[in-house]
Amino acid sequence: MTWYADFAAICQPDAPLAEHTWYGLGGPARWLFTPRDEPELVALLACCQASQVPWHILGRGANVLAHDAGVDAAIIKLSTPAFQQVTWDGERICAGGGADFTTLVKDAVDRGRAGLEGLAGIPGSIGGVIRMNAGGRYGQIAHVVESVRLLQPDGQVVERPRAEIDFAYRHTDLRGAIVLAATFALQAGSRIALQHEYQRIWKEKRAAQPTLAARSAGCIFKNPTGRSAGMLLDQAGLKGTRRGEAEISTRHANFIVAHAGATAGDVLELITLAKDRVRETHGVELALEIEIW
Ligand code: EPU
Repeated sequence: MTWYADFAAICQPDAPLAEHTWYGLGGPARWLFTPRDEPELVALLACCQASQVPWHILGRGANVLAHDAGVDAAIIKLSTPAFQQVTWDGERICAGGGADFTTLVKDAVDRGRAGLEGLAGIPGSIGGVIRMNAGGRYGQIAHVVESVRLLQPDGQVVERPRAEIDFAYRHTDLRGAIVLAATFALQAGSRIALQHEYQRIWKEKRAAQPTLAARSAGCIFKNPTGRSAGMLLDQAGLKGTRRGEAEISTRHANFIVAHAGATAGDVLELITLAKDRVRETHGVELALEIEIW
């Protein structure tokens, strides 16, 4: 009997991760699970722990680069309807961990709810966005989070208010916990003004970054304190550098774009080269923003 016999109905063995990541790269996940509701997720997590099977939660795969050899772990994706519910209650929104963040931002703007518009153009699931404290020039998700409902590695479900979460630049202390849902406190705003701001940010991003249609994982490296990783990579002369079919974007040097035929290995080679070059030219050690599985 396999370790996951109780979950065979929700398991896809050897699931190609290329189909589940924005990069469209990477080999198979040994097991891909899509739990149908919270109790099933809780039971699955307990089963992984008891069987000593390593596991990862996969959101929309917007910030993940999976190795070409695949990932020898249980990948859990919260893509069933139970994890994607969004409820609107005045200026408060509660969204499931698997809900789509880009859609939520657009809906908030169209309903005249202010607070998320600065995060226009950031792809991901609610869980991923919370876990990474996603953000950019116009804010970070921590600013509007009221509380987060979590499944802890010990199997407990807890509600943590924002004040009890360590939110920092592209970082939280939520690693290892599963975001079941998050509540956001927004404000009433002018729909027209919010739509205007939303469009402006989209246009700004379109001008400065590869389009969302180009395959990438957004920014590869975090900005070192007080500096811009993109600017350092640019000054190091890296724009347009290629390995195989992967290329350091000519628009924004902190993006690595995968052209048709690229492999995860091509991207990894560029990451190593870029880190080495910035260390040599600027004496700065860049840290990854993306996750490598
Ligand atoms: N710059 C260059 N060359 C480049 C890229 C940037 O000289 O190739 C310069 C820009 O001209 C600007 C400065 O570097 O003076 C900063 O660049 P930018 O304004 O594009 O912002 P960023 O710090 O590179 C951050 C987030 C992005 C987010 C943008 C816009 C990080 C690591 N990156 O980029 O987030 O989209 O602000 O809000 O925090 C992501 O998280 O995946 C991501 C793309």
